[in-house]
Amino acid sequence: MTTRRQFIQSLGAAGGFVAAYAAMREMGLMGPEVAYAGPPSLAAGSGRGTKVIILGGGVAGLCCAYELGKAGYDCTILEARSRVGGRNWTIRGGDQLELNDGTRQVSRFETGQYWNAGAARIPTHHQATLGYCREFGVALEVVVNHSNSARIQSDAVHGGRPIPMRQAIYDMRGQVSELLGKAVRRGALDQDVTAEDKERLMVFLRNWGGLNPDNLYRGSASAGFAAQPGAGTAIGSHADPLPLSSLLDPRVWTGPLFDDDIDMQPTMLQPVGGMDRIPAAFEARVGRIVRKNAEVRRIARQDSGVAITYLDKATRVTQVLTGDFAICTIPLKVLKDIPSDFTPAYRQAIATTPYGDAVKVAFESDRWWEHEDQIYGGLSFTDRDSTVVWYPTGGFHGRKGIILGAYSWDRVASRLGARPLADQIAYAATTIDKMHPGKGQRLTKGMSIHWAKVPYSLGPWAGFSDTATDPRFALLSEPDGPFYFAGEHLSHVGAWQQGAFLSAHRVIAQIDARARQGRVVDAARPH
Ligand code: PHE
Repeated sequence: MTTRRQFIQSLGAAGGFVAAYAAMREMGLMGPEVAYAGPPSLAAGSGRGTKVIILGGGVAGLCCAYELGKAGYDCTILEARSRVGGRNWTIRGGDQLELNDGTRQVSRFETGQYWNAGAARIPTHHQATLGYCREFGVALEVVVNHSNSARIQSDAVHGGRPIPMRQAIYDMRGQVSELLGKAVRRGALDQDVTAEDKERLMVFLRNWGGLNPDNLYRGSASAGFAAQPGAGTAIGSHADPLPLSSLLDPRVWTGPLFDDDIDMQPTMLQPVGGMDRIPAAFEARVGRIVRKNAEVRRIARQDSGVAITYLDKATRVTQVLTGDFAICTIPLKVLKDIPSDFTPAYRQAIATTPYGDAVKVAFESDRWWEHEDQIYGGLSFTDRDSTVVWYPTGGFHGRKGIILGAYSWDRVASRLGARPLADQIAYAATTIDKMHPGKGQRLTKGMSIHWAKVPYSLGPWAGFSDTATDPRFALLSEPDGPFYFAGEHLSHVGAWQQGAFLSAHRVIAQIDARARQGRVVDAARPH
């Protein structure tokens, strides 16, 4: 399966909507909503006497520990960082962002301000993620992922002037409606549309496209005001439509199609106060079995299970922990360099699985985008390496807010992230300044995260081009003797917490089935 991300990035290329629609059918995304079955229910006490060592305290590892713990398993999480959550990371004032290129940034955000430097939005159909929010009482609020007041800017289009999102959307509709109406009235579609439906189609197009009584598009109120209506003689007027040739530029229409992706559609949600409220809620329940600052150094197979060697970074003491099973949630980019007794095929799969990339650049600023530019959350789109400008949802009309001047993915992100840190931040400020002329200078406290350089992550998500057919994905989805693998990378919902949870649910069901058969130590290779 192509990932949603690649799918979006391919939109601007060939294919277009028909191809996108066909792709979505193939991805099984067009079917009726299917209810979420919940985590596997393990019989109470079924895990008694079985020791599971979980490598990595991101949401997959935390979820395994929580669910297995309910069934009486004796779990330990080894987490290399001094915090849980992994790529679910919220940065607040005082937090440090150290990258493996030796750079170190310290957040100076004001109290109450936060930046979701990793995971930052949850679709409503991600019920594994939302199910835990409900179970744990993690308060949610809407995250505005689309705003018609946001903008599109490219130096190559419209003289570089920012185009309001609503204008790109409704002018395109109007222009396409006018064209389609012409074709219909000329009889070009007579083979395809009955005479009766022709009439009905024309009525629809006039409404959908905002056509005038002559079936022409001359701009519409939906596309935005040139002058806002007021009182007295201020009757208001709408803007002139953009020409079709500008609207057909993928730099103009890619942004407006972004939230057509099923994972990007409204309503999207976020925990109030930061995405890390989710790992914090898990930690409140399983925190006592988490060993932080525990860097895994060796993953060994033993006659009766596993032996995990780790360095306690706080005391500099090396420890060995034994158990019946290990669940490795460590990202493959990191796992590949940890000495292990994985069988050669697994080692090969781990070493060669490609990873994606991401860069986010955040600033603290007064909230000029609200009172001066009428933008309350959402994303603006640029063809620069920044990809988007992302406005905050929480705290409308507050004194300050955290705005992103860049959030880019994969190849584009690697290019942006290859610049020196100060350059990345300046580049993102320039992006905002092009989108909102004059506002770049109001940005403060810039910080950039390049996920390929984040220690213990080394990337934002796995980069399988097709999880459905990749033999590495299939192999790692099955245990290598006592070793199980879980994380977003082993789901068909990669690059989302949902994928991490679903993958965690799958391995705990596998482990539970096996543990119930007695403590089986499987020296034989499953493949
Ligand atoms: N889940 C990530 C995000 O919200 C990465 C992603 C981007 C996934 C686009 C799919 C599509 O940005």
